[in-house]
Formats: sequence, C-alpha cells, structure tokens
Amino acid sequence: MAKQANRYLEVDPWKVIELGFHQERNQVSESIFSLANEFMGVRGYLEEGTDCSSLQGCYYNGIYEWGKENNPPYKGIVKRSHYLVNGLNWLATKIKIDGKVLDISKSEIQDFKRELDLKDGSLSRNFTLINEKGKVKFEFLRFLSMTNVHNSFQRIKISSDYQPNLEITLALDFNNKHWGEPGKWQIEKKDKLLIVGKTKTTGQYLSGAMKVETPDSLLFETFEEEKAIGLSFNFNLENEITIDRFVSIYVDKVGDKKDEIIFNTSKNLQEVDDFDKSLLENCNYWTDFWKHNDIEIEGDPENQQGIRFCIFQLQQTYHGFDPLNNIGAKGLTGEAYSGHAFWDTETFCLPYYLYTNLTVAKDLLLYRYHTLPQAKARALMLDCVGACYPIATLNGHEACALWQHASLQLQPSTGVAYGIYHYYQVSKDFKFLVDYGLEMLLEISKFLLSRGQWNQDKSYFGYYAVMGPDEFQMMVNHNAYTNFMARKTFLFTLEVLEKAKLSSNKSYLEVLQKTDFQKEIIEEIRTAAKMMYIPYDPKTELFEQHQGYFNLPHQEITSIPLADFPLYNNWSYDRIYRNDMIKQPDVLMFLFLYNQDFPLSVKKANYQFYEPRCIHESSLSPSIHSILANEIGKRKEALSFFGFATRLDLDDYNRNTNEGLHLTSIAAAWMNIVYGFGGLRSDGDILVMNPSIPSIWMKYSFKINYLGNNIKVTVTQNQVKIESNNSSPVAIKIWNKDIILVDQYILEM
Ligand code: BGC
Repeated sequence: MAKQANRYLEVDPWKVIELGFHQERNQVSESIFSLANEFMGVRGYLEEGTDCSSLQGCYYNGIYEWGKENNPPYKGIVKRSHYLVNGLNWLATKIKIDGKVLDISKSEIQDFKRELDLKDGSLSRNFTLINEKGKVKFEFLRFLSMTNVHNSFQRIKISSDYQPNLEITLALDFNNKHWGEPGKWQIEKKDKLLIVGKTKTTGQYLSGAMKVETPDSLLFETFEEEKAIGLSFNFNLENEITIDRFVSIYVDKVGDKKDEIIFNTSKNLQEVDDFDKSLLENCNYWTDFWKHNDIEIEGDPENQQGIRFCIFQLQQTYHGFDPLNNIGAKGLTGEAYSGHAFWDTETFCLPYYLYTNLTVAKDLLLYRYHTLPQAKARALMLDCVGACYPIATLNGHEACALWQHASLQLQPSTGVAYGIYHYYQVSKDFKFLVDYGLEMLLEISKFLLSRGQWNQDKSYFGYYAVMGPDEFQMMVNHNAYTNFMARKTFLFTLEVLEKAKLSSNKSYLEVLQKTDFQKEIIEEIRTAAKMMYIPYDPKTELFEQHQGYFNLPHQEITSIPLADFPLYNNWSYDRIYRNDMIKQPDVLMFLFLYNQDFPLSVKKANYQFYEPRCIHESSLSPSIHSILANEIGKRKEALSFFGFATRLDLDDYNRNTNEGLHLTSIAAAWMNIVYGFGGLRSDGDILVMNPSIPSIWMKYSFKINYLGNNIKVTVTQNQVKIESNNSSPVAIKIWNKDIILVDQYILEM
C-alpha cells in the first residue's frame, strides 16, 4: 500500500480540531468541516471570505441544473448531464475593521482554532486579529438544525482591547460560483430580508429569509443587490458584541409551489428566535443518536475519532428526511461527482441503514422504485429492454457523460437487486418484496437477459464489453463480478417470483401485468443463470477478474511514486488501463457481498493474489480489503486498512479531500467495524458474527438494531459480550455456534 496519511488535525474523541490556520489546506478543511442535515449542506468555509483558495459551497439536496445539451454521434451516449448546483450562500458575511476588509489569509492572527463538535453538530472558529491599534477577537459558530432541517444558524461574537470601528454586512447571496463559474440563479423575488431564486434549466425554487438578533442599540440598514439582500451595521465596538443570525430555507423541487414555499419560509422564520435553545435541541438530537449508534474503541484514539467522524457525516447527509433524496458520492460537501449517487448507495451505504433504521433503508430502495421509468428508458437507449439503473444520477436519469462508464457498468442494476435481497434478509419485509421489489427485479432481469450474450458455440452465457467495479479495466469480456452478480440477480428473481406466487399476495398479479410478464422468461432466466460463465480455476481457487486478465502486463504498484497520486491527474488516461493494476476490489467485492457462498480457502487465495495488485484509487477499496483481511487472519493488515478507511478524509490519504468528502466510503468504514472486526454477515438466513479484536485495542463496541432488538456487541481481548434489549429472542450463529440471544450472551475467547 503506497498511500500515506497527510495529518494536520488534532486527534480528539469527539471533535475535529484545526489549530493554526493551514492556508494551503483550506479547501481540504472546508470539506472536512462541512455541516449538513440531508436537506442542505454547507462547506466549512470562512464566511467572511478570503483570497486564498476556497470553495464557498452551499448545496440543497435535489436542487440541480441540466448541463449543456450535446449531440453525440453515437447512440447511447448521454446527451445531457445534470449536476447539484451551488445555491444560496446563507452565511455570506463581510467585515471591515477600521476600514480594512477582514481576510485572515492576509492578516496577522493568533490562536486560530476551527472545531467541529460531533456531540452537538456545531462548527466554531475562533482567532484574534492583531493590528497596529490592538487586538480584535472573533468567534464564529454555525449549525444546521437536525430537527427542523429548514433552519440554519450563525453566531458572530467580537471583542477587542480597544474600540475598533466595525462595518459588518450579513447577506443571503445567490452569487455563489459553481466550479468557479458565476451561478445561473435567476432572482424571482426580493422582499426585505427574503429572497427567492430559480434554477435556470430545471425551474426549481429556493427561498431564504433571515432575521438577526443584536443588542437593541445597534442601528442597521438593509440593502439589496442584483442577487443578494441583507443587513449592514456600522459601529464602534465597546467591549464585545454578539450577533445571531437565523435563516429559514425552503425549496420547491418541482417548480409549481413558489408561493407556498415563500409562505413557509416566512412562517418558519417567525417561529425560531432562540439560538441557544436551538443549539440545545441539536445537542439533544445528537446525544440520542450517539446513544443508539456510537462505536467505541479503547486504545486507538485516531481510529476512535475517525469512525465517529464517519458516522456523523453519514447521518448528517442522509437519515430519511425525504424519500426522494439519495446519497451523493460526495454527499453535500463539494462539486466533484456533481452530487450524483452511484452503485455505492446499495452496495456500501445500505448496510448502515439496515442496522440503524430500516425505514430509511427502505426509502433508499424506494428511490430506485420511483426512478424505474428512467431506468427503463435508459435500457432502450442501450438497445436493451427492462431497467438499466444509472451509474451516476440525481434524478434517475443517467448523468455520466463518459460512455465507457455509463454504458458498460452493470453494477448499478445488479446493485439494486442486491440491495433488495439484502434488505429482505435483514428485515424479512415480504410485503415490500412483492409490492416493490419484484417489479424492480423483473425489470432488471429483463435488462440483464437482453444485455447478456451467448458465446459462439452457445456453451455459456455472460457479458461482453463491460466494465466491472475495477474501473481500470475498461471494456472486458466476462468480468467475474458482473457475471456472478447477474447470476445471483436471476436466481433471486426466480425465488421471489415463486414465493410471491405461493403467497397469493394481491400485488403479485398487478406486478405481472405491469411488467408484461411472459411465462417463457422464467426458463430464459433459469438457463442464463445455469449457463453463466464464471472464470474460475479450481486448482488455484482463483477467479480470473475477466477473460484474459491473467495474461496482462504486470505493473508493480509499490514502484509508483507517491507524488503520482491521484493517478487520474498524473497519468495519461490510457496508461492506466494497459496492465493488471486494479483500482478497487472486483473479485474481492463479490467474495464480500456473497461471503457465505465461498470457503475460507477461496477468500485467502483471491485476497493474496489481488490485494498486491490494487492501488485503492477508489476510496471504497480499503474497507472491503480490511474486512476480508480480517476474515482470513491478516489482522495487522486489516487494522492498517481500517485506519486508511476511517481517516481517509481526515488525513487526506487520496489527496483529493479538497473536492469534498468521500461520503460513501465513509459508510464503508462503518461496515469495516461491524462486518470486519465484528465479523457480521447478513448474506444468509441467519445473522452470523465472528468477532475479533486488534491486539492494540483494549476494547471496542458497536450497536445494531436487528428485528426490533437493540443489540450491543462489546469485544475485549478475552471476551465477547452481546446484549439485547430483549424485545424478542434472536437466533445468531457466533463462531459457528448457534445461539438464541435473549438478554445477554458472554463468550470467553
Ligand atoms: C469508483 C466507483 C464509484 C465512484 C463514486 C469511483 O472512483 O471507481 O466505483 O462508484 O467513484 O464513489
């Protein structure tokens, strides 16, 4: 593993702290100090502005623009992409001290501290400015409400040892740039302290209103610019002052409720007036959240901080506020990946929700159900039938303009099928399976049947011209992952069809009608599954990543200099593809997903072969490696990958955190504890646990909710304790022993 940590933040169990302003890493810090509440997200930028490199990003889930329409010469290439657009900057602030603009990158400052508090979800930033007359101390605080997601808050506290003249403006500003270009927002309304913007191509509305609390004596003026409104103050500071800003924001994603959201924005603003009370409410939200979801690690402060940061960011980004939202690969923390959701959602994020909040997990799958029409349209564009789910999307339409990815990657479709399977394994929600799952499965299977092909003598079926999870192998035949996952999808579809038929559930017939079900498809699916080609050598127990992979030129990855990462910035595009170097787990990926289908020896053989060829250029990679390393007994390696996974952004391992957080690999870090060290497996009918503990840890614990039971697993060097709140007895297989967990089960190691 050639990648290395680039640490500059303090290690603390409940906080992320930057001491001293790291100007050259400002954009990295902005990503790390991001706040979100699913409805909106805001990067941790300096609200007063700075000339040093910065991305003042404020993103609103589901508020996007269409890109320019292209006319690609080939059928199937996306004509028009779409992207999450940088929206209303509700924190816009300008400060002049004795006539001079405050920009800490150009001023003498001391005691700079930026701090994200994982216990109350607030971000604070303090520093003291030194000028020829004396010192001026600034304390900024902001948070987004988790209980009323329309509310956001800013506090500015200023004190001084002399009486500086201060000019302060607080604005609601639609001038935020997107990828460095001026935004496209059209202003629809400005009314005192309320402003409404409209996206240009999608016609969506975003309305924001603010009020400010200051000492009574402070005079202010309102102002209006083309795309901003606000308040300004000009006064001589005596001792200290606190200014609290309350902002209320609503969006209309469809574009036909402008008046309604304006009304709601104002009404909501009237109801909020106590900064400290609102902060306390947030704190209570997070206290309750941690009570049920904390992961504790004793003896490893770096990973303790890392895993809490991951859980915090994931929960902030998505917690089931709106079933039409999904989880972007960068969440709401940056513009890279354009806010798009990928196959990451079902493959890497879903498990966290399956074990913390099943309703939310179901919402994620319903998102795919609601976007089935777009997936069906996409299949037709690719000269197939059924449903082809997009590799990257916000609104269900394929948004990836790189045709190799959009047309050749089938893992979003098999990923949705896997998500349905996994949800059912954990929830046993048969109603969902028949009402929604079956329709998706049938459409996905139709797509897979039409996209798959027979070899010339018709002795096997499989996928030609595909790209598996390893995006460094661009267009290959019989990628083992794709073929294996397609076979699993087929088999599961048949199983659900059979079960639904037997249940005489009334939606069953409706689904058959909706999907234009023809009996012959059963045989087609069965044959394709049976004849699916899976490149495997029983002698070596190795799966060949794709036909011909074993014969590719070898690239020694330890010889790649650190400065070459990320490779996509430093190597020519084609150079990456001409060897056996792997970007992320591919064979190892399906060995993880359907873990219980394979004996340990197969996992060992494939791990030992593929891990040394993998450069983990995808942030999704380390956790999966850690989980498998742990299973095959490579404990040290497992811990080292875990550190890479939990601190990927905190330590900027991939040198691209400036672009935004790796939200979906953050979810994989959660799996790393529960599936890795906890050894949980849920790809069977019964929950399996094989806990282990790294030798440097004294203790760790995690909590899951399973079949209505809150279960806590605590592991020390010599004991595993599993506690349940006992709403019903739970069958678990632990270290190959079947137990019925009632209230507590203790095993000595
Ligand atoms: C990975 C994909 C992933 C995407 C978004 C890419 O770098 O190769 O597997 O879906 O990032 O996280």
